[in-house]
Parts: sequence; C-alpha cells; structure tokens
Amino acid sequence: MTAVNVKLRLRGYDLASVQVDLQESWRIGPVEIPSRLVLAPMAGVSVQAFRRQGRRFGAGLVCSEMVSCAGLSHGNERTLGYLRIAADEHPLAVQIFGSEPGVMAEAARMVEDAGADLIDINFGCPVRKVTKTGAGATLLEEPDRACGIVGTVANAVSVPVSVKMRRGLHNGSRTCLELGPKLVEAGAASLTLHPRSACQMYTGEADHSLTAELVELVDVPVVASGDIVSRAKAQTVLATTGAEAVMVGRAAQGNPWALRQIMGDDADPSREEVVAELVLFIRETVRELGEHRATGFLKKFYGWYLGRGRFPRPFKQELVQLATLEEIEQRLFAAAPGARFVLERLQDELPQGDEVLLDLPISIYGGG
Ligand SMILES: Cc1cc2nc3c(=O)[nH]c(=O)nc-3n(C[C@H](O)[C@H](O)[C@H](O)COP(=O)(O)O)c2cc1C
Repeated sequence: MTAVNVKLRLRGYDLASVQVDLQESWRIGPVEIPSRLVLAPMAGVSVQAFRRQGRRFGAGLVCSEMVSCAGLSHGNERTLGYLRIAADEHPLAVQIFGSEPGVMAEAARMVEDAGADLIDINFGCPVRKVTKTGAGATLLEEPDRACGIVGTVANAVSVPVSVKMRRGLHNGSRTCLELGPKLVEAGAASLTLHPRSACQMYTGEADHSLTAELVELVDVPVVASGDIVSRAKAQTVLATTGAEAVMVGRAAQGNPWALRQIMGDDADPSREEVVAELVLFIRETVRELGEHRATGFLKKFYGWYLGRGRFPRPFKQELVQLATLEEIEQRLFAAAPGARFVLERLQDELPQGDEVLLDLPISIYGGG
C-alpha cells in the first residue's frame, strides 16, 4: 500500500472512490517511470513497434516479450534479435525466462549491455513448452530455486531486477503471498502480480484482492496486471489495492487508444488515425522482423485494429487474402485516403534514422 493510500485510509476515505493521478511518476530503484501505466509483456505481440507505440500513447514503462535465457546463452540469432532496443522506448524492461541461475545471470548481463533499464524475470508463463523446462509458472512452487534465480541475477547486473508472477499454479492458490516477500528479500526491486492461477490461463477474473494483500506484505512497488480495460477499472484497482501502477495487456492489442483512454483522453480514433497507426505498425514491424516473418506475424493485428466497429467485418478478410504487405497498405489507404496525411504527420514526429535503432554491441552477436 502506498504511503498516500495508508494516510487516506486512516482518515476514513473510501479508497474505491479516490482518484489516483495516472500521470504521476514513480520509481523502481533509480529508474523513474513517468506514468502509472505499464504496457504488458506479451509473447507474439510486444515487438518494438508495439512498445514504441505504447510509449507514445501514455505507457510510462514498456516490456519486451519473454526472452529465452538458453537462447541468449547459445547465441541464437532470433533470440538475440529481441535485444534490439530503440532510443525512444526507455524506460524499457526486458523480460527473461529460464530455470538455471547461472545461465540467467549471463543472459541478464547481455540484456543490460543491450541497454535495458530493468530486467524482469518471468515466473508466470503457464504454457507447457516453458513450464516443462522448469521455467515460468513452475517456479512459483519452487521457492528456493526462484529466490536463487532472483539473487543471482540481481548480483550480476546493476539495473533493478523485477519479477512478474501469477497467483500460483492451481485455482485458489495463494502461493504468490508466500513467495513475494521472499523474492524481495532475494533482491527483487518490484513485483508484478497477475492474480490468476497458471491453470486458469486467461479464463475467469483476475482477483485483485490478492494484489492488495501482496502490497501490504512488501516494501517495493507492486504492479497490478489483469483485466485492466478502462480508466474506471484502472482507477478502482489502483485505489483499492495500493498498487503503484497498472499493467495493460490484451486491451492494448491493436488498440493503443485504450492506453490514451486510461490516461484520461476519451476521444475515439477516426478511421484515418486507425489506418495511419496500422500502416506505421506494419512498416516498423517489417524493419524489425523482415518482410517474410512480418507477413505472418501481422495477420492477427488486422482484426485487432479494424474490429471494434471501426471497419466492416469483411474488410479484414479481404486484407488477409492479399499477397503482399504493399497491397495491404494500398487497400488500407483506399479505405481511408486521409490516412496518408495523418501518417506523414506521425512520421515527422518520430525520431529518425540512427536515433531509432541502437545497434547491439558486437559482443552480443558473438563478434560478427
Ligand atoms: C498473447 C499473450 C502473450 C503473453 N505473453 C506474456 C509474456 O511473454 N510474459 C509475461 O509475463 N506475460 C505474458 N502474458 C500475460 C500478460 O502480460 C498479462 O499479465 C495478462 O494478459 C493479463 O493482463 P490483461 O488482462 O491486461 O491482458 C501474455 C498474455 C497474452 C494475452
């Protein structure tokens, strides 16, 4: 619970009706985060284009998707690609997953060298491919190993180390409340809680009463993740849990305007704005992933951007059937011609050229 909330509760205020200022900055260790809104790490979604967009729309902190420590340690080229950090992403957390403290510490040093402001450790991933290796949510049930990982990683780097976790493995579990304080003792400078069990995956509701309990137990900032879809929900969760910030995931997929709305600007985007953001997203993703990978990666985003009553349903079907991204862009501009001007303006406002993509240190590429 934040000091402000403690004082308010002592004075008899109903915390649920307190308005928390989302524009207020806060800190994880020495890292200043300019708003109380955090963009969630999402595998298959949180590419650099998504993170840069999130920063433009009000997120004070953005996160990479989870990066395999084994992949980094083996010099896997695709894994190393996750360490490309743009100048306008900061502050940025790069999330790592693994199960061996030594390998994770080595990976964390690579992440720090690449320019991340924070290293986040994944103790929440419920996917079998990850849990069967002893990583992700499995570690919630292995407190000694989990604390060993946090301690070893925190000793290996000078940037703050945070942990993102679920409530536990099984429905009704309260494991996060036992483990959280131990992780802080081991060196975690912040905790993010997604209070669903690993078994639940994304069903049911995130139980933020656990977030409130965790806040009471630790003296580091807690970030609340799960079902933050509106300004009202963000305000309620901040006020009733004492969490330092809220994290937004699915609501921001193809919908950066959700971030803007949570920050207090209710204006719905015009069709021109939607198309301009989507085209910018396509172009940046191609630059990051290459045309071939980007073509498959982008397919899920068309529905996310164009849905919500913004464009007629068959339009998305039409787009995914087009052969090239160039054709997709042309079709999008045909549907909203004014988008070209919005896009020009957007591009003028973005940092250009060398300022954008910082090259990785050569050592990270293994000398080549
Ligand atoms: C497609 C997808 C991928 C995700 N990948 C990650 C991940 O790589 N690391 C992580 O800690 N959480 C991951 N999550 C969980 C989110 O960060 C977040 O905690 C969860 O979606 C609940 O928040 P929401 O209701 O705002 O979506 C993922 C969620 C989704 C939907």
